[in-house]
Amino acid sequence: MRGLRLAGVLSLSVILTGMINCVTCRSVQKQEISIQEPKLKDVYKDAFYIGTGLDSTQIYGGDQRALAIMKEQFNAVTAENIMKWEKLQPELGKYYFTVADSFVSLGERNQMYIVGHVLLWHYQTPEWVFQDTSGNLVDRETLLMRIRDHIHNVVGHYKGRVGSWDVVNEAIDDNGEWRENLYYQIIGKDYVQKAFEYAREADPDAKLIYNDYSLTNRVKRDAVIKMVRELQRKGVKVDEIGMQGHYHLDYPLLDSLEESIVEFSELEVKIAITEYEINVLPRPDDEQLGADISLNYEMQKKYDPFPDFFPDSMQQKLADRYVDFFKIFIKHKDKISRVTIWGVHDGQSWTNFWPIRGRTNYPLLFDRQYEPKAAFDALIEIGKKNK
Ligand code: GLA
Repeated sequence: MRGLRLAGVLSLSVILTGMINCVTCRSVQKQEISIQEPKLKDVYKDAFYIGTGLDSTQIYGGDQRALAIMKEQFNAVTAENIMKWEKLQPELGKYYFTVADSFVSLGERNQMYIVGHVLLWHYQTPEWVFQDTSGNLVDRETLLMRIRDHIHNVVGHYKGRVGSWDVVNEAIDDNGEWRENLYYQIIGKDYVQKAFEYAREADPDAKLIYNDYSLTNRVKRDAVIKMVRELQRKGVKVDEIGMQGHYHLDYPLLDSLEESIVEFSELEVKIAITEYEINVLPRPDDEQLGADISLNYEMQKKYDPFPDFFPDSMQQKLADRYVDFFKIFIKHKDKISRVTIWGVHDGQSWTNFWPIRGRTNYPLLFDRQYEPKAAFDALIEIGKKNK
């Protein structure tokens, strides 16, 4: 059970007077008192699902405190990695569903909306998918057959249990051109169409999502709009556009975010804000990508400014930024199906490892001690106001 919240229920406030501002009391009390507090999933229940992302340790049950928060605060769940092609079918024809089955059961036991992530992506897909036994690239028909088998087996396995699928991830490049991945090179751009058709055949009731990052950037947004329109003209339905919310304190502009939400919704699709976090660390130049900063003191100071402690002023900045984004989400709640925060607590965020390894980032709503942050309180407050 989490600690007391300032946003807690008034009826208990008398008993708890004197403890509310006391952080130490709070953590002692939370072992003993069960408090009906507003929960994220409840304050946003009439607006959209509030989701979280789970890493493998959590799915294996190795992080019970995160699971407790997941159950308490969220009503939708995505697995960060364990449903990717390399995990589900690492070798031709050999499917490994055990971990993904645990994930889906976990979501079901907790009455959560389950998101399948992801059917086709250029990363985390085994090489064999594109190669014959001699290591040469396969032809179009072979690759289409492999994609069809994969999608039919995976989506079919969870038919009726997974609410929506990220069918294709990141097909459009930053310059608005088709990404020259192997799917595109071997099949051509109709690989996206085919993937949606196969997924629809496998589970006609699942919502099908096109998911991508930087969709607040005009070129990329326009390219995705064009792609979805073409699919629609061919009678292929895309139910939702997943806007990966890998955001920062200074990016994207709020106006661009709002424009994208409005423009996408004109396609008569819903918008899911997926993989949402607010990165608070300086953004490195490209040449730093993948660097290990622990090796370099100067770099560490510059790019990892809060290795031990996240100052209150920064907590507030983060909270304000979450609120600014959420105001837009709330304003457009009729267009938005879900907001999925990319992890339960700061310690698990991929932004600690990318684009530079070994930094200490603070992008999520719960800290490394599993305590809710100012951003969490702020989201509860504006959620309550807009209920
Ligand atoms: C991309 C993918 C996700 C995940 C993130 C990093 O956005 O869609 O599955 O790998 O990168 O967490």
